[in-house]
Amino acid sequence: MAVAVMGEIMRLDKFLADMGKGSRSQVKEAGKKGRIYVNGQVEKILKRKIDPNIDQVTLDGELVQYRKWEYFLLNKPKGVVSATEDKRYKTVVDLLGKDGRRDLFPVGRLDLDTEGLLLLTNDGDMAHRLLSPKKHVDKTYYARVSGRLPKDAVQIMAQGMELEDKTRVMPGRLEIAAQGQEEAEIYLTIQEGKFHQVKRMFQVLGCRVEYLKRMSFGPLALEEDLLPGQYRRLTEGEIESLRENAP
Ligand code: URA
Repeated sequence: MAVAVMGEIMRLDKFLADMGKGSRSQVKEAGKKGRIYVNGQVEKILKRKIDPNIDQVTLDGELVQYRKWEYFLLNKPKGVVSATEDKRYKTVVDLLGKDGRRDLFPVGRLDLDTEGLLLLTNDGDMAHRLLSPKKHVDKTYYARVSGRLPKDAVQIMAQGMELEDKTRVMPGRLEIAAQGQEEAEIYLTIQEGKFHQVKRMFQVLGCRVEYLKRMSFGPLALEEDLLPGQYRRLTEGEIESLRENAP
């Protein structure tokens, strides 16, 4: 985890808002009520500057930890939108509850009805690199598809294809886990994240994706005990391996 560099100075209200303690006006209110202390002294002036690396800030008696960069791995459930705000649906940031600080955003998108591994961070550079097709970061999806898979489905996917709207997509690695007459269970690994990409790739094959779940993203795989809607922080080692995957 990246930590604050020495001498990083910021306003107390920004610090508290960034750490997910409420909006600037909410933290200002908390300040007026004497709920905020800096280095053991009550502090009511929220525009004062602090050094989050040195100064100890408490809210309601609890130490507020400073984290400059955050990286979360979420098992996104169905019915939750991959956005920071939405009028109709709960967002992936809402699922982070008290950890859902305002500067977090999802690294790419999963459709409303797609489940699985989604990263959330406030590290824009890292997100950009992970999403760039040029970095060739593998994303593996599990899907249940209906319709008859063509015999050469693996080869078709491996060649890359043109989607129905003529968008070209890069090759994908298809593994057929189970196959019946009119349905199949598959794993597809791709390195891009075009709109509805997996669904549209199967559409070209004459099939329909009935269920879709992202199983892995670069070096990170979804563990079975992280249930839909649950999340965890990435470890230092995982953050490092993401950096190595998309330098
Ligand atoms: N491809 C899709 O079609 N949908 C997703 O949510 C992700 C990849």
